[in-house]
Amino acid sequence: MKPQVWLVTGASRGIGLAMVKNLLSAGHTVIGACRNPDGARDLWEIQSDYKSRFRYLKLDVADPATIDALGAQLKDETIDVLVNNAGVLKGAGETLANLSFADVTKSFEVNTIGPMRVTRALLPCLQRSANPKVVNMTSMMGSIGREHGGGYYAYRMSKTALNMFNKCLSLEFPKITAIAMHPGWVKTEMGGATAPTEADDSVEGIIKVASELTLKDSGRFVDFTGKSIEW
Ligand SMILES: NC(=O)c1ccc[n+]([C@@H]2O[C@H](COP(=O)([O-])OP(=O)(O)OC[C@H]3O[C@@H](n4cnc5c(N)ncnc54)[C@H](OP(=O)(O)O)[C@@H]3O)[C@@H](O)[C@H]2O)c1
Repeated sequence: MKPQVWLVTGASRGIGLAMVKNLLSAGHTVIGACRNPDGARDLWEIQSDYKSRFRYLKLDVADPATIDALGAQLKDETIDVLVNNAGVLKGAGETLANLSFADVTKSFEVNTIGPMRVTRALLPCLQRSANPKVVNMTSMMGSIGREHGGGYYAYRMSKTALNMFNKCLSLEFPKITAIAMHPGWVKTEMGGATAPTEADDSVEGIIKVASELTLKDSGRFVDFTGKSIEW
């Protein structure tokens, strides 16, 4: 695969961190965006190993000022693949009667509006690429059609809305391949220790699928093996 420039949000841990490492091993150039660069010890170490192909920048996807600052810092650069990976799972186990609306608001801020703002801020960078792609890290839990046990209102709703953002993006920008990606149930802080998929296996699949999908696939909802997921 030709080396490309990838920007990954939520690069400090979990799937984002594993993706940064995998992309660098494969020869790509990577920008890791994270909420707290001063505490991102793993990213400091990666930078010392990959000085010419990796840097990390501050980005809180719920803070428009840091998004604008990131856009300004990168305004003359090219990004081939933007991975909107940063996300939160709030309110697990809550019912409608006892859920926190602050959790619902926060989930939409981070999981839905964050990717919208980041994508808008980085559009000029993407539009400089010959084959730009946006991977919106969603979840099967956002599928309405799939049988599921309910609950997780905030998380599910924010990811369903992210899927619609992905679809709208694909229609407004026919030269950008926009993919809503379910990474599997992955062993991370969010996925928990009993998750069946290792982060390395998930990101290997995501990178392969994202690299192989083309404009004709734009707007699709797929998993890390490339399988379509019901809306
Ligand atoms: N793990 C799974 O089984 C699973 C399944 C389906 C979908 N997903 C999705 O995959 C993505 C990554 O999940 P994960 O399992 O790696 O989760 P994780 O281990 O909890 O990591 C979440 C990442 O998002 C970052 N983040 C949270 N809020 C942020 C904000 N406001 N601004 C910037 N970064 C923020 C965190 O940064 P800090 O270190 O600063 O907190 C961290 O790097 C998420 O979108 C998640 O919804 C995961």
